[in-house]
Amino acid sequence: MPAERRAAGERRGAPRRKSDKKVTTGSKLDLILDVTRRLMSITDLDALLRDMAQATTQLLDADRATIFIVDREKNEIWSRVALGTGVGEIRQPVGVGIAGTVAATGETVNIPDAYADPRFNPEPDKRSGYRTRSLLTFPMTGQNGRVIGVFQAVNKKGRESFNPDDEETLSSLGASAAVAVENAQLLAEQKRLWETLIETLAVTIDARDQQTAGHSQRVTRYAEVIGRGMGLSGLELEKLRAAALLHDYGKIAVRDRFLQKPGKLDDVEFEYMKAHAERTGEFLAHLEFPHDMRDVPVIAAQHHERMDGKGYPRGLPAERIVLGARIVAAADVFDALTAPRYYKPAYSLEKTLEIMDTMAGDHLDPAVVAAVRRSMKDLEWTLESLKHTWPKPGDEGMGSLQDAELSERDRAAKAAGT
Ligand SMILES: [Fe+2]
Ligand SMILES: [Fe+2]
Repeated sequence: MPAERRAAGERRGAPRRKSDKKVTTGSKLDLILDVTRRLMSITDLDALLRDMAQATTQLLDADRATIFIVDREKNEIWSRVALGTGVGEIRQPVGVGIAGTVAATGETVNIPDAYADPRFNPEPDKRSGYRTRSLLTFPMTGQNGRVIGVFQAVNKKGRESFNPDDEETLSSLGASAAVAVENAQLLAEQKRLWETLIETLAVTIDARDQQTAGHSQRVTRYAEVIGRGMGLSGLELEKLRAAALLHDYGKIAVRDRFLQKPGKLDDVEFEYMKAHAERTGEFLAHLEFPHDMRDVPVIAAQHHERMDGKGYPRGLPAERIVLGARIVAAADVFDALTAPRYYKPAYSLEKTLEIMDTMAGDHLDPAVVAAVRRSMKDLEWTLESLKHTWPKPGDEGMGSLQDAELSERDRAAKAAGT
């Protein structure tokens, strides 16, 4: 931290005297600049709101702060961040209460005594035992001039009320906060669009064959559980999720007569079916993945590679199979074993684990199988919640890629005497 800023920080902590006013104003500006820079670098809306609430209490010497966001579709304001109150999300209609009024009018409301204002709702105070006194409520205005959010600072410390200086401070912070919030909202929308797009792609694949109905969705949930069990988090989990959703996307290029063939596939047909993994990689290469998600197609395309190098489509040696693909492979096997198929019932978790144990080493990564064991409680819970997506008895499409995949697994299981 530069010496200047450190000095400002120390000054902030010092008791305030009348003669300090100029210095305090300077340090406030310094703090606003600091906060603004920080806000611009935060892209997660929740984290951003938390940071803004923190900065508001600090800048205004307030006891508490809440940031509301306007939900135009529902005509409500909501807040996930209410610093110091310990309450979760608050929702209320635009136009109702003090924050709702500010959202509707775009005008600042500064009241020294909340209980003297008829718009104030004392219910939360009654529930929590807190006593609200002064309130400064300020609109956050977006680029198109509409109110996108509301800052609310509660109880100026030292039993004073908020003054015009505080209003000015909040207006400086509000302008840059609005830009940061709009950016974060835009990013969240794009992310949601991206997520729903790949979910839709996965659904279209699963819909082609009733035998594999819900397969991609289940493999994704299992892969997430196993990934967490291996210590993955954040971006690594996001990549794993995307790759698992899309792992069988190449099936789109497999003709129906193979995909939906009743009974087992012969060797020639099985060779043809194997191409789906390669196709997955080829098709996904056309998608412009966000920079930090670039290896999703690789993870997805490697889901039938094996640790002994006998997998497909490349027959890669273990060291070239990425961790994400090893996890998707285990999740894929887990679903093939635990879900019912025309030639086998749904296997119990014990039997599934037994078979997967025999596959550890030559087919599956032993470290991933160990994580499956460790995560068994979560997997069991996830499996229960997904049973409704299983193919039903009597569904058509009894021959499938899963058949081919499983016959290979059954061979492995048989060889191990299970
Ligand atoms: Fe596959
Ligand atoms: Fe699969």
